[in-house]
Amino acid sequence: MRILITGGAGFIGSHVVRLFVNKYPNYEIYNLDKLTYAGNLNNLTDIEKKANYHFLKEDIVDGERMHALFNEYRFDAVIHLAAESHVDRSITNPNEFLMTNVLGTANLLNAFKDLWKDDFNGKIFYHISTDEVYGSLDDGGFFLEDTPYDPKSPYSASKASSDHFVRAYENTYGMPIKISNCSNNYGEYQFPEKLLPLMINNIKNNKPLPVYGKGENIRDWLYVVDHARAIDTIFHEGKLGETYNIGGFNEWKNIDIVHLLCTVMDKKLGREKGTSAQLITYVTDRAGHDLRYAIDANKIMKELGWEPSLQFEEGLELTVDWYLKNEDWLTSVTSGSYQDYYDSHYEKR
Ligand code: NAD
Ligand code: TYD
Repeated sequence: MRILITGGAGFIGSHVVRLFVNKYPNYEIYNLDKLTYAGNLNNLTDIEKKANYHFLKEDIVDGERMHALFNEYRFDAVIHLAAESHVDRSITNPNEFLMTNVLGTANLLNAFKDLWKDDFNGKIFYHISTDEVYGSLDDGGFFLEDTPYDPKSPYSASKASSDHFVRAYENTYGMPIKISNCSNNYGEYQFPEKLLPLMINNIKNNKPLPVYGKGENIRDWLYVVDHARAIDTIFHEGKLGETYNIGGFNEWKNIDIVHLLCTVMDKKLGREKGTSAQLITYVTDRAGHDLRYAIDANKIMKELGWEPSLQFEEGLELTVDWYLKNEDWLTSVTSGSYQDYYDSHYEKR
């Protein structure tokens, strides 16, 4: 089986590529990635020499190139993760999200459809999406697979649009698709623009910890390796045409998670308890900031037997240990353009 994994040099994609390359030596794994600021081949040094791993530096926005690649490699399956993924960047530059997340997804769908239209048998187009497409849970409850879409940021609007394209291609052309919508991930190799790695990096460097608004927004956190395991389960056991929500029933208010992180970091860095929390700084809120996300993951748990492998506190410790041990990785991704992004995004708050 030849599997195309897009966005495999990013945070979640690198965990999915690692899992598939190691677990399935009989599959040929093609990692297609443009290597934007968020893509980093250093995320994959442990598997890059494996015989069943291949890398293609390509841009999914280039539709003709996607057709050419599909004709050349004849991928049997696609696991599509490539995307612009950071809400704050989508507020500053929405068109980048429209191009990559919507047009890029349509290009992959078209290339796959045109290659296999006479026989979709045994083929899979698996699209990786987010719980943010369901909008904000301001009045309690959980996101279910049939919760109506109500995206509120340019990022979630672009992901919702891509999900609609994927479902439309199933309905119109009979394409063999699967979709999963996951809650917030955390773990090793996450780019330090997202909440937890940004705070870890700032605590380490004694920099202010910028909490948006009052810190009362709630997110539902899942360890990235558990997301990769869920993707493996859905790819192999999930029903064609179905959607699966993935989450760990693990809701945290931002301010509480930052306090917990400060406690863990004080311990790991040998600082007196309470030292890191003094860095907490409330800053101007994100525009249109979704209040709460919470996934009901009962479908994947009951139908496919998947469940998270770790308690949150264990996963957080593993993550902090990894960032402290992998100083070179953190230094390399925070040099250059990261500093420009950081200054322009946080200075004015
Ligand atoms: P990421 O930003 O870390 O990685 C995205 C990857 O896509 C990078 O390697 C980047 O180089 C690549 N890419 C971007 N534009 C591209 C293009 N035009 N052509 C080819 N490659 C391109 O993102 P992530 O956090 O790993 O998220 C991966 C996927 O999972 C996304 O589709 C995202 O919407 C979804 N998701 C993320 C989370 C989360 O908490 N991070 C939760 C649920 C779903
Ligand atoms: P983020 O990691 O960007 O994920 P998402 O917006 O996709 O959920 O942010 C997680 C939460 O943390 C979100 O409510 C915004 C908040 N946040 C801060 O308070 N400060 C920050 O510097 C960042 C990046 C996020």
